[in-house]
Amino acid sequence: MSAHDTLVEQTRATLERIAREFTPAVFASSLAAEDMVLTDMILKAGLPIGIFSLETGRLHPETLQMLDRVKEAYGYEIAVYRPDPLAVDAYVAEHGLNGFYDSVDKRRACCAVRKVEPLGRALAGQKAWVTGQRRAQSTTRSDLPVEEQDTAHNMVKFNPLADWSEDDVWTYLRAHNVPYNALHDQGFPSIGCAPCTRAIQPGEDIRAGRWWWENPDSKECGLHFVDGKLIRIKSVAA
Ligand code: ADX
Ligand code: SF4
Repeated sequence: MSAHDTLVEQTRATLERIAREFTPAVFASSLAAEDMVLTDMILKAGLPIGIFSLETGRLHPETLQMLDRVKEAYGYEIAVYRPDPLAVDAYVAEHGLNGFYDSVDKRRACCAVRKVEPLGRALAGQKAWVTGQRRAQSTTRSDLPVEEQDTAHNMVKFNPLADWSEDDVWTYLRAHNVPYNALHDQGFPSIGCAPCTRAIQPGEDIRAGRWWWENPDSKECGLHFVDGKLIRIKSVAA
């Protein structure tokens, strides 16, 4: 068995364990490449792990199209969580629609309204949640475990792709003919909200196009950081 096939088997086993031991559990999908690997594994195996996406109101049309493409390919409707419109209005009134370019604080405030608060609603009542984060993605993720305690949400958090390389992700997507966001073919290895994501040049870091005006150490949005600190406090051996 190749190293890649072993990784795939281990990841399937992790997802099966989550389905067995952590009901109810949900998977947070940004609809980007990593998350399509997990979507494919969960839906093809018929695992009882619900899939949701945070629709921030600032996503690219190509990203939104993935909701329909998943429905066509798998007959599955991803649950969509949107920000509180009053909170968005208040942010825009105070900082402007694109106030997030002015400072890290204003950027985190926008992510708090558009991503973090809806995430809290999506995770309410769950025992565990699953993400598509990988260690190799960023300096802030270099010691990411497969399983960790999320003290902010008081539940277990799984990162089943922690050990995967970008090559592993694309090997899987191609081998299983998985639909993927069209932006990945246009220089976007990492995709977030449209105004905060741009294409990268060959040789640039894969997250160089995310919040490109900020220092690499601040580039997390509160889904995985709280008050500027990693939510990760205690990791549990896989
Ligand atoms: S981010 O924190 O910088 O935005 P990134 O885009 O790398 O995160 O995605 C890491 C993981 O966070 C994804 O694999 C997914 O589990 C979760 N995630 C990020 N954005 C969303 C979103 N809009 N909806 C649901 N989950 C998301
Ligand atoms: Fe706002 Fe940008 Fe964060 Fe999206 S990524 S919630 S637009 S600051």
